[in-house]
Amino acid sequence: KQFDFGIVGLGVMGKNLLLNMADHGFSVAGLDLDQEKANSLEKEAEAAQDIKGFIAAEKFISSLKSPRAIMLLVPAGKPVDAAIGSLLPLLDKDDIVVDGGNSYFLDTERRFTELAKKNIHFFGMGISGGEKGARFGPSMMPGGDAQAYERLRSIFEAIAAKVDGEPCVTYLGKGAAGNYVKMVHNGIEYGIMQLIAEAYDIMKQGLGYPDDKIQEIFESWNSTELQSFLVEITGLILKKKDEETGQQLLTLISDQARSKGTGKWTSQDAMDLQAPVPIIDMAVLMRDISKYKEERVEAAKTLTWAGEVETDTNTEMLKNALYFAMINAYAQGMVQLRLASEAYGYGLNLEEVAKIWRGGCIIRAACLEDFRKAFIKAPELPNLLLDKEIGASLVARQKDIRAVVKVAVEKGIPVPAFMAAISYFDAYRSERLSTNVIQAQRDFFGAHQFERIDREGVFHAQWE
Ligand code: 6PG
Repeated sequence: KQFDFGIVGLGVMGKNLLLNMADHGFSVAGLDLDQEKANSLEKEAEAAQDIKGFIAAEKFISSLKSPRAIMLLVPAGKPVDAAIGSLLPLLDKDDIVVDGGNSYFLDTERRFTELAKKNIHFFGMGISGGEKGARFGPSMMPGGDAQAYERLRSIFEAIAAKVDGEPCVTYLGKGAAGNYVKMVHNGIEYGIMQLIAEAYDIMKQGLGYPDDKIQEIFESWNSTELQSFLVEITGLILKKKDEETGQQLLTLISDQARSKGTGKWTSQDAMDLQAPVPIIDMAVLMRDISKYKEERVEAAKTLTWAGEVETDTNTEMLKNALYFAMINAYAQGMVQLRLASEAYGYGLNLEEVAKIWRGGCIIRAACLEDFRKAFIKAPELPNLLLDKEIGASLVARQKDIRAVVKVAVEKGIPVPAFMAAISYFDAYRSERLSTNVIQAQRDFFGAHQFERIDREGVFHAQWE
């Protein structure tokens, strides 16, 4: 028996894509070193489906029709190289290897060149839609070896999602175009998830709406111009009750958001290309801030909200706002230096950095003496915002920066740096962030799991 198509890696995505292909009449084989995963593939298949799971690479490879078509669905990074390395001795000229994971685009370029030397066709193809998408119709973003894609086009078009009868898959461009498009897809995904989390927070904290009202609002938004998968699942997430406690599950989900890198890569490469993508940048950094749980809990005690602001501004308020934002800029840079020192083994002493920045350099300023004192008091201070005096000086000025930003937004004056300063301050002083919404969404569409605030471990919910 010779199979039309093979997949290496039988996690949710690999398994579901194979079942989807089998639904469309293709005979398919899967390889996973984990016997249980190989078995579960056949268990989940229906009698009419032509599908087989293998745990030995040799048997898997020799079961495929020649020239072979193989797709890798293993975690990005080293596992992809390891999978290619183990298959390579078994492959023949003209075989096709597709990387269906979220690989970094420069890795794809490198692998393409390496495999081309051996006359193996290689291309990267981003696949979106999570487990359900893979099972019943994903969007696929192939790029690279156009001739190889052409050979597999009918399989991919058959299993893809369809809109107005048109398959959500097409050859996108040369090189790592497929992975690049998927990377930016994920960057936008991060941005929209963060925006939805913020909209939720405005209703929850800002307007004080009860959970069921917020749920109804999200559900109704999905029948408006906001209609979208992420708005839809947010409505469903807000509905879900924890089976044991009966509480809304979302409120029990930890706000420390996880990520696998695609959003960060989007921001990093956008900076190289000078393509401004501030919403994506903010989404990445909010996931980062969410991880500083202990510091946020500390900061929440001292950096307290100062009450409603006036809308009028004067230059005294602007001066205070500028001071507030400047302090935040130094604080951010100092955190980066501390982390770089740990990561690269520099052994930096931040008190000395502050000391030599007091004079001569472009960022010399009176406040550097305050920073120096803060680091003398507490050399391990994780963030200048946590210093008592510096924190108090910010708390005292926060109304002014809020007023300045309010007026600027009203008048249509771009003040992204002021906004970033106050947003950073507010995120850092939040004991609880709305990033639990992001964790719930990730678990909903990708089974990425979440942590809970009331017990140890990682969890996955049946959201629907
Ligand atoms: C998709 C998703 C999918 C995956 C992300 C999650 O398009 O189906 O983007 O590829 O869920 O990799 O990314 P993070 O783990 O970085 O949130």
